[in-house]
Amino acid sequence: MKVLVLFAHPAFERSRVHAKLIRAVKQLPGVTLRDLYEIYPDFDVHPDTEQKVLKEHDVIIFQHPFYWYSGPALIKQWMDLVLEHGWAYGKDGNELKGKYMLQVISTGGNEGAYSPEGHHGHVVKQFMLPFEQSARLCHMHYLPPFVVHGTNQLSEQQLDQYAQGYTQLLQAIQAGQLDLQRAQQLQELNSLTGIPQITSASK
Ligand SMILES: Cc1cc2nc3c(=O)[nH]c(=O)nc-3n(C[C@H](O)[C@H](O)[C@H](O)COP(=O)(O)O)c2cc1C
Repeated sequence: MKVLVLFAHPAFERSRVHAKLIRAVKQLPGVTLRDLYEIYPDFDVHPDTEQKVLKEHDVIIFQHPFYWYSGPALIKQWMDLVLEHGWAYGKDGNELKGKYMLQVISTGGNEGAYSPEGHHGHVVKQFMLPFEQSARLCHMHYLPPFVVHGTNQLSEQQLDQYAQGYTQLLQAIQAGQLDLQRAQQLQELNSLTGIPQITSASK
């Protein structure tokens, strides 16, 4: 499987979590990484370029911090401009058919806070509904997110565990070893990677 990582972080120079995750991605041969804020600092996303890149890959990963229960603004701009009617969806819009889409997200709130009883009232995957349905509209298979929880409380060692888990996940996807049917039923892909549940408090 050919994997594309579309990375969006508007303040990458201050990042702790994604700095580590991106380092892990860069060490993996065969994964295409596109840093959207670096390529499009003025939000002038080029649909033709992006569509060409998409066609060359089987698995599309949006990697980003969780901002206001969604992604940073450039992700939305990218979707608005790239996922065109007649190309991605609608009559004859089948170019993404059969590909997989997933998100790799970091959240300030911890795992317990993202639950029906917790501070944010819903699990992270529920907030991803617009992404999930957009993938479906474009005839793609949507996989649950890989989530780095409670970013402010994570030690360097815990961050390393997440980076290692992400690497395992990418390798399994590349090698076609991920049980996609099982994966689709999960709330998060974390449990497939062997990373320990790190936090349980509700904020
Ligand atoms: C503008 C903004 C909005 C944010 N919104 C959320 C949010 O809705 N939920 C949440 O759990 N964390 C939220 N956060 C916290 C970030 O997700 C967290 O700082 C980030 O994932 C840490 O990753 P980094 O070290 O790579 O920057 C927000 C942060 C910023 C700056």
